[in-house]
Amino acid sequence: MRTTTFDSGRALASTAITLTALAAAACGAPPQTGHAGTAEDPWVIGMSQCNLGEPWRVQMDADVREAAEAHANLRVIFKDAQNNSLTQRAQVEEFVEQGVDLIMISPKEAAPLTRPVAEAYRQGIPVIVLDRAVQGEEFTTFIGADNVRIGREAGAWIRETLGGTGKIVELKGLMTSTPGQDRNQGFLEGVALDENPGLELVFTGEMQWLEPNARREVESALATNAQIEAVYAHNDPGAHGAWLAARAAGREEEMLFVGIDALPHEGQQYVREGIMDATFLYPTGGAEAIEAALTILQGGEVAKHITLGTRIFTQDNVESGGEPIG
Ligand code: FRU
Repeated sequence: MRTTTFDSGRALASTAITLTALAAAACGAPPQTGHAGTAEDPWVIGMSQCNLGEPWRVQMDADVREAAEAHANLRVIFKDAQNNSLTQRAQVEEFVEQGVDLIMISPKEAAPLTRPVAEAYRQGIPVIVLDRAVQGEEFTTFIGADNVRIGREAGAWIRETLGGTGKIVELKGLMTSTPGQDRNQGFLEGVALDENPGLELVFTGEMQWLEPNARREVESALATNAQIEAVYAHNDPGAHGAWLAARAAGREEEMLFVGIDALPHEGQQYVREGIMDATFLYPTGGAEAIEAALTILQGGEVAKHITLGTRIFTQDNVESGGEPIG
């Protein structure tokens, strides 16, 4: 299995070059498509987004749209599954029935979306899975950042910044989605509680990626802990919800707030305003997905796993665009 790694924060151009190089090295025949892939008869891509209620997902669709608009021989049909795995399964099935040339999906949960993706793939329709994984390997390519790595970096940053002493709260994303599982695993590795007896995980809650849930969880954490030194949230809406709860209790200065996503107008802005202390970039992969789609539709090969890079944004570096990691 080949794996390609990109620093996607800045290196979209090099991504395109790498994918083009992979295409040039391709040997397979183009997939059987119902369209010519010309401006008159463009290839049709079906894109199923798990929800559009969260800013990061709106950005992913915008990135896909912008990249696709540069290619007159592509047309993208967008569907919003409104955070429902059954709806999303039906969308994949509809795309198959409709005869789209390629499917892109950012699945809500791994298990329920595995079968529809595998069935489309077995019928010869290329499937690009974005950001959250499905189970097994029955898809064409997975594009996303390394969530274990991001979680590990966040855990290590909190451990170092606290100097090895302090009470920590973890707010988990949806634990039936792979980023939730991976960001938890990586965090526990990075924070290394066994080797740092002064650090204590005093509260964990599952906020399912949503700010209001995070706020409620942290209200409970505050009620049962007289002192908290850091909140690690699996995404920036979670970290912001935690801050809202702490501020309502007059305790926001007491603790660090660390999240993931780093959208310019969300996490990066919270860091700039001093609300959050650190956020880690979680690139959407939208532009890379369109490059990969073109390569596949032209008969080229892409790596089975395309791993996007990350960056850290803190108050020290946010104005200069953060720092790459790795
Ligand atoms: C949006 C989101 C992001 C997070 C990603 C994980 O739905 O919750 O905030 O980084 O999904 O898949």
